[in-house]
Amino acid sequence: MSHVACILPYEKAPLYIGLRKTPAPASNQLLIKVTSAALNPIDAEIRFKGGWVDRYPTVLGTDIAGIVEQIGSSVTRFRVGDRVFFQGTLHDPNCAGFQEYCLIPAEFAAWIPTSVSEDEACTIPVAIMAGVIGLFHHSGLGIPPPFHGPTAPAEMILIMGGPSQLGQRAIQLARIAGFRYILTTSSLRHVPLLKRLGATHIFDRSASDLEAQIRAVVRDDLIYAYDAVSAPDTQILAYSLLSDSRPGRLAVVLDLPKDKSSVPVKPVGTKWNLIYGSTNRWSELSVPFWGKVSEWLETGAITPARVTLLEGGLNDVSQGLKLLWAGQVSAEKLVVRPWDD
Ligand SMILES: NC(=O)c1ccc[n+]([C@@H]2O[C@H](COP(=O)([O-])OP(=O)(O)OC[C@H]3O[C@@H](n4cnc5c(N)ncnc54)[C@H](OP(=O)(O)O)[C@@H]3O)[C@@H](O)[C@H]2O)c1
Repeated sequence: MSHVACILPYEKAPLYIGLRKTPAPASNQLLIKVTSAALNPIDAEIRFKGGWVDRYPTVLGTDIAGIVEQIGSSVTRFRVGDRVFFQGTLHDPNCAGFQEYCLIPAEFAAWIPTSVSEDEACTIPVAIMAGVIGLFHHSGLGIPPPFHGPTAPAEMILIMGGPSQLGQRAIQLARIAGFRYILTTSSLRHVPLLKRLGATHIFDRSASDLEAQIRAVVRDDLIYAYDAVSAPDTQILAYSLLSDSRPGRLAVVLDLPKDKSSVPVKPVGTKWNLIYGSTNRWSELSVPFWGKVSEWLETGAITPARVTLLEGGLNDVSQGLKLLWAGQVSAEKLVVRPWDD
């Protein structure tokens, strides 16, 4: 059996629509009929800048929702016909989303509640996984995971870049963890959205006195910061705002700035951690997370992003990646349905 896929034939090459052999699930896997897949900045980076992928041809797309088509022999948690969402991987084309079928280990998938569409569910996995690792893994901020109730070890957290997908999901995770004050930076047009998500203090990211405004609120008390944008200037600002008297932690999602000459010295033990938001790599945290997230989605503690559906199915992946690469996607997720054309 074969299926239609959006294929990247070699590094930085144009995408084309072709056929791939449909894989059979291993004993611990599900074969998924992919009904919705969302585009991410990393897909655009691979398409236009290269890197990340070690073998071609390949398939991109790691934000995935669909319907269980077949189950491996040892899977008991899911049934054929269940609606699920999950994070695919860029390291195996059989496990990526811009195609009609893909595989996922059952322990890394979660049910979609009836109140949530597949287009909505597929907007969540990549961004929330970065937040889960960023906030709750020892390689990030190291806050205990709030799977059984609030765990926040401090009153406040700073999240740089609230309207980004990573920022939105991190604000919701910080609220679940029980932070009383959730501070974020944003263009002012996103203030209503960020308030709904749980931000308590929203700072205009273009203000010339941004640092002074945030410092007036955090004073010397900021121990936890997560930078969902991670440009050199946002990282340096977030690090500078950490406490000068107690060791704090900053988790960032892109490479650390090369020039740190303007960065103030912080107490011994202060950490500046680059995180890798991968379901596969950190299964000790991702397995319990995927077992919990459906409940958070059902109760509204986690909500999906605003969806912009690209009507041309896999044919539109190419155009969507161009928009992402040009920085023209604002507080929304571009979604394709691989069975549409
Ligand atoms: N390390 C990891 O594991 C990992 C995982 C996933 C993603 N990432 C990376 O994380 C980054 C964010 O991904 P994403 O999907 O969240 O991106 P995104 O949603 O496409 O980011 C765009 C948004 O960021 C906002 N923004 C840009 N610069 C900002 C600034 N200086 N201050 C505040 N907001 C700012 C924009 O605001 P406006 O709407 O106001 O323009 C826009 O809404 C990407 O570079 C991605 O590659 C890393």
